[in-house]
Amino acid sequence: MQKPVFLENHQVIQPSALYSEIEAGLLAEKASISPKFLYDALGAHLFTAITLVPEYYPTAVETSLLKQYKSEIAAAIGKNPVLIDLGAGDCKKAAHLFESITPSAYVAIDISVDYLKESLEKLQSQYAQIPMYGIGMDFSQTLELPDTITQAPRTFFYPGSSIGNFLPTEAEALLTQIKREALGGGLLIGVDLMKADHVLQVAYDDPLKVTAAFNLNILRSVNAIIDSNFDVSHFCHKVLVNQSKERVELYLEALRDTTVAWHGKQRVFKKGELIHTENSHKYTIASIQHLLNQSGFQALKIWTDPRQYYALIYAQ
Ligand code: TRP
Repeated sequence: MQKPVFLENHQVIQPSALYSEIEAGLLAEKASISPKFLYDALGAHLFTAITLVPEYYPTAVETSLLKQYKSEIAAAIGKNPVLIDLGAGDCKKAAHLFESITPSAYVAIDISVDYLKESLEKLQSQYAQIPMYGIGMDFSQTLELPDTITQAPRTFFYPGSSIGNFLPTEAEALLTQIKREALGGGLLIGVDLMKADHVLQVAYDDPLKVTAAFNLNILRSVNAIIDSNFDVSHFCHKVLVNQSKERVELYLEALRDTTVAWHGKQRVFKKGELIHTENSHKYTIASIQHLLNQSGFQALKIWTDPRQYYALIYAQ
């Protein structure tokens, strides 16, 4: 049986760097924890569960756009590209493209490497003829790929509106790197569009509380990394729609006065105090076009749904 190849990335993630990053965030006046710590093994599964929650429209709308426009998308990309999936997760979205574009190779990148192993092995067994590679890396640091990945023009796939999790300036830096690493190829990107508060509110605070569980799990993930003693029951999931900054802001709010301690350090949270975990920036067609152009992309093809909730863009 064909097996996917897991590549070592040159980026050495120093455990001490992760530790210092978490510590600095917890000790800052406005506490924060980087969203990358949401994706431990349980977090990766919880996120997959979010994508199945009806109120979380981005995945469903994006999947229907991928299906509906698969021929146009394939025509824009061209035949047999090296397909590089950024934040592959369960690898389900890229699989929608396999029939129409028949990639010459599939490279799945994700920070949650154990989860990626599971999903990529499953996918490889379904598509034995496509060479598959897995890389566990945090591409928000650098996008430099191992030399083993073909130098031929590459098609990057960046779905899920994950670009929205970066500040616009950081997003531009990442897109600029993608443009450079594409070596003349292109980028198929999914972008969530700005919309009314109530739609966003319920998408990020679903009635089943799957999103709440996902966000709260970051405290357990942090406990495991820095050996802290967060009591998850002292916090709740909190969503703020910030219309002026065109983003959804995600926090954990202390339900009572509580103290977290780790290796001789501690942080007191007063009741109502917030820990920031993620921003999800929303774009308009005009603002995402501008951002892509600023990052060096010229030709854009745009597909949207009838409600204009979401855009799928191919940029070169
Ligand atoms: N990046 C996704 C988004 O912005 C992930 C996400 C969905 C998320 N719900 C969340 C991240 C809740 C943190 C908390 O849509």
